[in-house]
Amino acid sequence: MRVRVRRASGLAGTVEVPGDKSISHRAVLFSALGDSPLQLEHLAPGADVKSTAGCLEALGLQRTVGADGSLRVQGRGTLLPPPGPLDCGNSGTTMRLLSGLVAGAGVVATLDGDASLRRRPMARVLVPLRAMGAQAVGTRFLKDECAPLHFSGGALQGRAHQLNVASAQVKSCLVLAGLQADGVTSIREPEPSRDHTERMLHAWGAPLRVAPDGTLLVERLTRPLSLPSRLRVPGDPSSAAFFVGAAVLVPGGSVSCPGVDVNPTRTGFLRVLARMGAQLRLEPGQDAAGDPVATLHVRGGSRLRSTTIHPAEVPSLLDEVPLLAVVASQAEGVTRLSGAAELRVKESDRLRQVCQALRAMGAEVEETEDGFAVQGPARLQGAYLDAAGDHRIAMAFAVAGLVADGETTLDGAEWADISYPGFFVELSARSAGAVQA
Ligand code: S3P
Repeated sequence: MRVRVRRASGLAGTVEVPGDKSISHRAVLFSALGDSPLQLEHLAPGADVKSTAGCLEALGLQRTVGADGSLRVQGRGTLLPPPGPLDCGNSGTTMRLLSGLVAGAGVVATLDGDASLRRRPMARVLVPLRAMGAQAVGTRFLKDECAPLHFSGGALQGRAHQLNVASAQVKSCLVLAGLQADGVTSIREPEPSRDHTERMLHAWGAPLRVAPDGTLLVERLTRPLSLPSRLRVPGDPSSAAFFVGAAVLVPGGSVSCPGVDVNPTRTGFLRVLARMGAQLRLEPGQDAAGDPVATLHVRGGSRLRSTTIHPAEVPSLLDEVPLLAVVASQAEGVTRLSGAAELRVKESDRLRQVCQALRAMGAEVEETEDGFAVQGPARLQGAYLDAAGDHRIAMAFAVAGLVADGETTLDGAEWADISYPGFFVELSARSAGAVQA
């Protein structure tokens, strides 16, 4: 799909963003370790969570869609052998979390995905799972192991894991394996990553705790999880970020996003924007899925100043980096990011893609091994861009087009459906038609 974007003369309104993708994946996956029905409301509507639900159904989870669009799932407390390969689509979260669930259950299964997912590194989950006793092999690709992944049983034993990268996907994979392993599984991360797994599983009665030094300790689950009967998924802060970013940049912009998850492990983007001089206000709402929730109020037109984003902050704004680069191009001075090499192994090499796209729009950008330096403020020019098969690149550069001269043509805009179906329709409505899908 090709989208055309012109400079926006305003950006206004209230945007109800879709349910959080990370929480939605987890709710569906974890429900398989329970044996009572769970009604999931406001589940993330994108293709990634559909991939998770499809895989879990093949593993024996029952699911029905209600008239109100909610999803009712019912697990068996155990998994059934799947009839064929499990298709994780484009979703790294599906593949990595499912690896831990499948390895722990000891079922024979193959996990596969699309061309992009087949290029993403999976040794980071296979190596620690094998250390726990899983029979798990991937397919050699470059220096890593990639999908398809083959699991063929093996009784798991708890181990002490020290992760090299702060990754909520790897951590969650090992938690799911640890819940089905003998003994204690411990996990230490270099920096704290998003903690939805810990919060949700703890609330659902799993034997898991965080030691005072931050080590996560997991023991075998001896009875099915105590699922709530209903869960409403809060709004996705990573989806809200595009409207927040757009409202900050467009003069006279004014946007509110109600019901957004503001778990501190997810809101580094908001902290960085505030530091750059953006006008943001959080109006607290009612907690959901164990997380704090707020309405985000944003006003645009402030003079933004550059900032330095340190490695320790990166996990809390990981998925917002492409958008932050766009915002940085409009801030006075040089914004530097480091410690973000992980961005190179996302749905695309996001450091490369954002630097190339910003340069194509006329900004001065230096790409480094693990980050970038963006010189602002740049007078962006409309350009021809391709989303490079990456939903976050597609949405971030639609925002860039709203503050560029002339017209920006964005090919591959349909990739936004991975996390935010309807994004371009919403952005068009808020920007009085500056976006034409
Ligand atoms: C996610 C974790 C992050 C993030 C991804 C979702 C999750 O990935 O980029 O979009 O739900 O656990 P990593 O675990 O690879 O850092």
